[in-house]
Amino acid sequence: MASAALAVGGMAAIAKVVDETGGVETTESSSTGFPRFLIQDVQTKETANVNTMTANDYLTFNYPLDNEPNIIVKLGVAVTNGVGPDKDIIAYSDICQHLGCNPAYVHPGGAGPFCNPSYSAKVPAMYCCCHGSIYDLTNDATVIGGPAPRAVPRVMLEVDSNGDIYAIGMTPPTIYGHGPAGSDDVSYDLQGGTPVA
Ligand code: FES
Repeated sequence: MASAALAVGGMAAIAKVVDETGGVETTESSSTGFPRFLIQDVQTKETANVNTMTANDYLTFNYPLDNEPNIIVKLGVAVTNGVGPDKDIIAYSDICQHLGCNPAYVHPGGAGPFCNPSYSAKVPAMYCCCHGSIYDLTNDATVIGGPAPRAVPRVMLEVDSNGDIYAIGMTPPTIYGHGPAGSDDVSYDLQGGTPVA
């Protein structure tokens, strides 16, 4: 598989290859020892697949530890590092970088979060109801509101020939609660619990 072909580079190296012939296979690789994990929704067990997700569909899944939530979402707009035929599927840690709550997905035309139902999202975003931090999912989860000091980490994704989507690593900063706050050393993300299998 493409992931094996990319198993090169240093600790911080991230490589990306887009299979231009298939149009859907995107692979990133790091040498940090993260598990390769088929993404399935925690509740429904639905598998994330680039051929079945439609705009604003999202699933939640635990990664890289078995109790740490993330969101994978089809944004409906192409983004850097997006996978799938429309390059609009992306995944982020659902653990707020402020104090560790779990933000909700919001999008233009959709409902606001439970804590602020009248909120009208201008971009697909994650909204944290604890203290109001908002992360712009079309722009590397940049903070566009509230007290969060930095973006949430992105989950590196890989798509197989069937369109199924795998988590294969995390990008900096470290997940909230792992190592020094805001560290670029993502090896901390694998400490303090049980990695998914
Ligand atoms: S924990 Fe998310 S804004 Fe405070």
